Amino acid sequence: MKETIWWKIGDPPGQDAILKQAGEILQNGGLVAFPTETVYGLGGDAFNPASSKRIYAAKGRPSDNPLIVHICRLSDLEKTAVSIPKDAYRLAEAFWPGPLTMILKKTAALPSETTGGLDTVAVRFPSHPLAQALIDAAGGFVAAPSANTSGRPSPTVGKYVYEDLCGRIDMLIDDGQVGLGLESTIVDLTEDHPMILRPGFITETMLRSVLGDVSLDPALLEKQKAPDLDPQKTQDQADLKSGMPAHSAHTHTGPKAPGMKYKHYAPKGEVIIFEGDEEKVSERLLYELQKDQKNGTRSGVILSERMLERLQRGKKETLADSVKCLGSSDDTQAMAHMLFRFLREFDDEGIQRIYVRAVAQEGLGLAVMNRLKKAAGGRIISL
Ligand code: TXA
Ligand code: MG
Repeated sequence: MKETIWWKIGDPPGQDAILKQAGEILQNGGLVAFPTETVYGLGGDAFNPASSKRIYAAKGRPSDNPLIVHICRLSDLEKTAVSIPKDAYRLAEAFWPGPLTMILKKTAALPSETTGGLDTVAVRFPSHPLAQALIDAAGGFVAAPSANTSGRPSPTVGKYVYEDLCGRIDMLIDDGQVGLGLESTIVDLTEDHPMILRPGFITETMLRSVLGDVSLDPALLEKQKAPDLDPQKTQDQADLKSGMPAHSAHTHTGPKAPGMKYKHYAPKGEVIIFEGDEEKVSERLLYELQKDQKNGTRSGVILSERMLERLQRGKKETLADSVKCLGSSDDTQAMAHMLFRFLREFDDEGIQRIYVRAVAQEGLGLAVMNRLKKAAGGRIISL
């Protein structure tokens, strides 16, 4: 076990000294976790194969799941990728720096350890000033997956990076809650037609406005079989588990981003998604919560302010052991911002069952539902 230095931005010795030390660690093959505008990243020198191996070990990540190479200058794109299509430059012009990752053909110089053995590379130019300064201090190329242990929700606050990676990395630069809260959109530009491999804040419509045409990896749209749940049944856990689809039900070819095939974003509690109008969801939710209370199951809910008001009307006792309110803002935006943090907090609170209402799978909602469905492992109940 090595000691992990945990620097909080704003505290001494000050940002410049922290970045200088972080740059030295990275240039010497060490690992530094850092904030980006999407989620925290676990960084190593992208051109050092030993660093990339250390990243996989620290995360407990399968070594066939490639890392994203982060750059801080558009001119550095050509040091990571070859045969770069015009579309890549158009996208860079529109969305970089920002939450967009492009898959391109890799240069020979980039170690295959960084790209999980693939001849393509994922490249991203983040907009977070600290991320940019860190990449610069490291020499310009930082390979970084999300800074969680494999399978856990991506960290959006520093303390969850520390919880997962303490003793496995050299330094954590903590800048509090990140701005966006979901990982970058990934678009593949290595085939004849651009394809979205992972949805994010840069939506299909936004990509289409630049590319004209873009498709979605079919694996993203695949429906997982909803469990057959009868609200009249009195049995508890066993009911929800029966009829559960296998976790990794995907198309025959599977998703093109290797990471999308793995179990992901899972809190310790069971996540259950309700799909339907507010009235039906409220009714079913109250039924499940009552059942949980009777069985001594600790329950948590994520609710919009409106749903919360509706549920609390005329109800004196506590609704659930933990209630996370999305506020009055647009549900999808708020959910994107807070989902991963809420899932982690439910773990801290020992919550065994987590109920969430589905958002519409359009725009940013596609990204939210993609992460939520993975967290729920197929437990979606249509009402
Ligand atoms: O917002 C983000 O993208 C964050 C921050 C830290 O930048 N990073 C992140 O990295 O989410 P990670 O490793 O957790 O997810 C990267 C995804 C994985 O699903 C991986 O399989 C896919 O990108 N990927 C990487 N290189 C690829 C390639 N050459 N071809 C296809 N998919 C690739
Ligand atoms: Mg990840």
